[in-house]
Amino acid sequence: MASRGTKDFIDLAAHDGGHLRHLLALTGRLKSGELGGRPLEGRCLAMIFRKSSTRTRVSTEVGMAQLGGHALMISDRDSQMGRGESVRDTARVLSRYVDAILIRTFGHDEVVELAREASVPVINGLTDLLHPCQVMADLFTAVEEFGDDVRGLRVAWIGDGNNMAHSWLNAASRLGFTLRLACPPGYGPDAEILARARSAGDVEMVDSPADAAAGARVVTTDVWASMGQEDEQAAREKAFAGYCVDEAVMERAHPAGIFLHCLPAHRGEEVTAAVIDGGRSRVYREAENRLHVIKAILLDLIG
Ligand code: CP
Ligand code: NVA
Repeated sequence: MASRGTKDFIDLAAHDGGHLRHLLALTGRLKSGELGGRPLEGRCLAMIFRKSSTRTRVSTEVGMAQLGGHALMISDRDSQMGRGESVRDTARVLSRYVDAILIRTFGHDEVVELAREASVPVINGLTDLLHPCQVMADLFTAVEEFGDDVRGLRVAWIGDGNNMAHSWLNAASRLGFTLRLACPPGYGPDAEILARARSAGDVEMVDSPADAAAGARVVTTDVWASMGQEDEQAAREKAFAGYCVDEAVMERAHPAGIFLHCLPAHRGEEVTAAVIDGGRSRVYREAENRLHVIKAILLDLIG
């Protein structure tokens, strides 16, 4: 197995391509049932959710149960973290109870600090900056559709230069597939993450959704306003007009091209109902794959 590079799963850029491909292969073996049993018997995972979640929370809790372990939910409403207890103290205390910690929060620095202070592995369940577990599920969905050679993929990102876009950029920098991004002016990705991905792989910003989608095997997008940006919704609706994945955009894709969306989606904003509910959409398989991917990550970290 390739080196992990880190005890944690926080940022795809911290893992080499060999390790990411290993995780995708492990996901396939778990999904097919080739790997079974209860390898995490007696292990506990703390899940800290400071933002809402359906897929991440449920897939992780169910994944731990299927592997024979236990997951416990910690929210701001019922923990001392919600009353201001420090990340450092939380990390040090939880490390004495559990075998790993998954966290979803706002600032990425909080996850980095948690991992620095914790003696157990930390998994990033989404920050304002990154959403690595989701992009691994998206990549696995693409591999199921098109085969193992991730390098041959052409991916179109249309919309906000947000946490999902950043994790796609990090994945491209490590796995070497082609990525084209079309983002509204002023809503592009982080300059440093973009520069790193461009220097490592075939990554370019393009002018329009149609240009991004040209020949793409995967066309993907996300909401115009992410969690924490609700008060920007009106301004973003103006800025993102024209950045909707509709049938005309999908027509530009590769004839076998598929549509992915991490969900939740806003039909009529970033994607039309005809596309997300149409024959080229794989969004529910993609959501299912969150379960298989998180099981692979958990096994890899604490198995
Ligand atoms: N895609 C995703 O992370 O969904 P949740 O917000 O429901 O976890
Ligand atoms: N970009 C979205 C992803 C949700 C899974 C958000 O951060 O709200």
